[in-house]
Amino acid sequence: MHTSLGQSLGQSPGKKSGVLGAAALTALACAALTSSAQAVPPGPAAEMTLRQAAEARGFVIGGAINANVFDPDAPDLGEGVAREYNLVVTENTMKWGSINNTPGDFNFSLADLFLKYADKNKQILKGHTLVWHEQLPKYVGNIETKEALITEMKNHIIGVVTHFKGKVPIWDVVNESISDTAGNPNPYRENSPFIKLIGPEFIEIAFRTAHEADPAAKLYYNDYNVEGINGKSDAMYQMVKSLLAKGVPINGVGFQTHVDMNFSVEHTRMKENLERFRKLGLDVQLTEVDVELKGDAPMTDKLKKQAQTYGDLLRVCLEVKCNAFIMWGYTDMYSWRSGSKPLIFDMDYKPKPAYFALRDVLLNTPK
Ligand code: XIL
Repeated sequence: MHTSLGQSLGQSPGKKSGVLGAAALTALACAALTSSAQAVPPGPAAEMTLRQAAEARGFVIGGAINANVFDPDAPDLGEGVAREYNLVVTENTMKWGSINNTPGDFNFSLADLFLKYADKNKQILKGHTLVWHEQLPKYVGNIETKEALITEMKNHIIGVVTHFKGKVPIWDVVNESISDTAGNPNPYRENSPFIKLIGPEFIEIAFRTAHEADPAAKLYYNDYNVEGINGKSDAMYQMVKSLLAKGVPINGVGFQTHVDMNFSVEHTRMKENLERFRKLGLDVQLTEVDVELKGDAPMTDKLKKQAQTYGDLLRVCLEVKCNAFIMWGYTDMYSWRSGSKPLIFDMDYKPKPAYFALRDVLLNTPK
């Protein structure tokens, strides 16, 4: 009965590369959700948690977490994340600089605790992120040759993905590689050691290496300011299209969706944008959603606008059959953009209007 969630995660139609690993993911997702759904049968809509509203339609809703979910002095956080989300992603813990700060000397201890946490709470743990130009260890910046960087990148990917093989079903493999001023001839970010030393083919190498390490894992490219149709999303579209044409094992695209309350799904043509990626046979997810408050309007008005934007984002995600809606945190207290209060729980861990907007959309958008 919970195959719908599994299906929603493994739903790529007409995938060309044939490397989905959907069966493994489906099994994991189903196992994860079956027991939790049994443990907490959905109540009347008004009392449902976000997680229950999501699971009622076989959908994945999640958020980024840090080690403070284990803080015994902040039980609302650890318990709240377990109650409201069926997927968690490590906000910083699995980044290269955190997990492999000395070549080959992997530090998995904290990441393993997240695995335990997710397991205990029947949640999917998503891996973020294997190759990114930020939060890198010093030694990567000191590498001087293309060959050496390829070797180090492969070692890193193999070490991390192998450790989590069969346990982390989704990886952001490459993060933020398209330039902000995308427009040919060079659509790639220049301030990246991977682009500088290896060139754009590092992306293909990264995906192939991750696939080798765990053939069942779903592999994503992830970026920001690509939610609507614009030069950057056009460049990303061309990039993933050519990766697919080369048979590179890429399963999906993550749209970070760090926006503010005035973001318009309609004006940016977000649906049309997401749909063109779906038509390539790729899965899509909103991966780091947060919606900043802006301007001098009364707080109640701003919260209302924020709620509307959250609702619009989730609706468009559901309409294009995205397979997850993931927020970049849980409470404003611990957001990376805490000052602009971009999340769905306030500083006191109380649900904001945005929380109820998301729940309404989950309950009322046709499947
Ligand atoms: C951010 C974290 O939230 C911060 O705690 C950290 O200081 C910097 O990185 N895009 C990404 C995420 O893919 O990894 C970033 O996370 C936010 C932007």
